[in-house]
Amino acid sequence: MAGSQPPSEDPHLGEVIVSADAISQRISELGAQISEDLAGRAPLLVGVLKGAFVFMADLARAIDLPVEFDFMAVSSYGNATKSSGVVRIVKDLDLDLTGRDVLIVEDIIDSGLTLAYLRKNLMARNPASVEVCALLVREGLQKTDLDLRYVGFSIPPDFVVGYGLDVAEKYRNLPYICRYVEDPT
Ligand code: IMP
Ligand code: MG
Repeated sequence: MAGSQPPSEDPHLGEVIVSADAISQRISELGAQISEDLAGRAPLLVGVLKGAFVFMADLARAIDLPVEFDFMAVSSYGNATKSSGVVRIVKDLDLDLTGRDVLIVEDIIDSGLTLAYLRKNLMARNPASVEVCALLVREGLQKTDLDLRYVGFSIPPDFVVGYGLDVAEKYRNLPYICRYVEDPT
């Protein structure tokens, strides 16, 4: 996993934090677990745009249930690099959540503030259940405090890109997750 160089000449791309193989292996496990936990039900996957779209596409195909899809886009007010917890819904869901088993699919939980807002917002729409599947969580965050049912990987504090995650809309298409080097020397 860590240590190998990404196959790219871009000096902003640092070491690989999670390889494509590791992502794929973990998604198979998560999909199997979700399929078992929600057996007999038809969960609604709610992807948080844009970062979660790559993960959601692969996760959905690892779930052996009749899943449905919807998407939400949110933006934080204020400083772009530090989440304030004040969130604005830029694109709301198309579907009604009443009685649905909702699975929020997120790319990365950093402070957890965006997720806390989303969960509260979706819970108010009378779903049967709301669970969370996050590909990445910052090391040190208390999974239990955030009530994260499914987590792919815990990662160090470094800013990362790839597999949906961006810097100014770039790098989302990298098939692995690597460290972003702000000032290459
Ligand atoms: P939170 O509200 O602090 O948990 O913010 C989470 C959101 O911040 C994620 O959904 C990402 O959009 C963004 N984010 C946090 N850390 C990173 C990172 O390392 N790379 C890319 N985006 C990140
Ligand atoms: Mg996001």
